[in-house]
Amino acid sequence: MIRVDNIKKTFPGANSPAVDQVTFNVNEGNICVFVGPSGCGKTTILRMINRLIEPDQGDIFINGKDVLEMNPATLRRTIGYVIQQIGLLPHRTIEANVALVPGLLKWPRDKTRQRVLELLEMVGLRPGEVGHKYPHQLSGGQMQRVGVARALAADPPIMLMDEPFGAVDPIVRIRLQDEFLRLQQTFKKTICFVTHDINEAIKMGDYLVIVNQGRIVQMGTPIEVLTSPADDFVLRLLGDDRGVKILDLTRSGSLMESFQAPPKTSAGINGCIVQAIQPVKIALEMMMKNNSDQVGVCSGDKIVGILTWNSIKAHINRVSGDGP
Ligand SMILES: Nc1ncnc2c1ncn2[C@@H]1O[C@H](COP(=O)(O)OP(=O)(O)OP(=O)(O)O)[C@@H](O)[C@H]1O
Ligand SMILES: [Mg+2]
Repeated sequence: MIRVDNIKKTFPGANSPAVDQVTFNVNEGNICVFVGPSGCGKTTILRMINRLIEPDQGDIFINGKDVLEMNPATLRRTIGYVIQQIGLLPHRTIEANVALVPGLLKWPRDKTRQRVLELLEMVGLRPGEVGHKYPHQLSGGQMQRVGVARALAADPPIMLMDEPFGAVDPIVRIRLQDEFLRLQQTFKKTICFVTHDINEAIKMGDYLVIVNQGRIVQMGTPIEVLTSPADDFVLRLLGDDRGVKILDLTRSGSLMESFQAPPKTSAGINGCIVQAIQPVKIALEMMMKNNSDQVGVCSGDKIVGILTWNSIKAHINRVSGDGP
């Protein structure tokens, strides 16, 4: 869907490129997350995709079409953009902010208004309550929701989201992430998502692109990156709780010992059970709560295996033991 091939950008007067030798693909319907420290080039990469910044070299294709040969204004209308620091127009109402792109596309007034109301509701805002307010009258979390609604307004197949949940407290942030993931299950947009928060990256990303000093240092699915970090930089970025993060992405069923002959009841495991699809982290919590070193693993209401503390420990040692 999106193919970026060896792009490079050096800003005037800079000693080194802000972005260099960057190559990646984003598959249709996936969320590709760019993660790395402040100043590593994340925003610059994003803004080259919708041509707010022109690369010095390299190619960018969307559905096989060369972006650099497209009209920038037309291009941007097909790509939703949630900018860092939200970027709502301060002197326009919330409704007018969300209606920005439909306005540019000259949608009829009725259709635009209907779409705006629908979107505000979709992102969890009451149109009657916030529609006529101005951005400064909203909380940080509400403004971020408006930013997302605005980017979705013309139903673009592609979204660029630059720290879309950055300016809110951790609890609201988790709620916005959950809501967005739920929307994405039906939307199936192709999304480039920027964050400097590794936990957000692992949670939101189908695929991670880890950037440092303008270059990609590693790409892969969250579990690939967690289980085989490319170097010390990635290892540090993943944090000291890398093992716990792995357990959060590993299903209990994948580490259990299957029963040869399944027991009829959960009596032998004292009702201490998890579903096979639940993360191993949940199984661990269950063990702690029940003061047990094993849990039964169920598929529906049938017990299909047993997961022991020793097998979890062995798994962690296997996948995270030796680092890069
Ligand atoms: N318009 C510009 N002119 C000159 N230098 C720029 C410009 N935009 C970005 N830079 C520089 O390019 C580098 C990458 O910046 P960029 O904004 O892409 O980083 P970032 O990863 O998005 O950081 P943050 O997490 O802080 O948003 C930085 O050194 C920055 O100072
Ligand atoms: Mg940035």
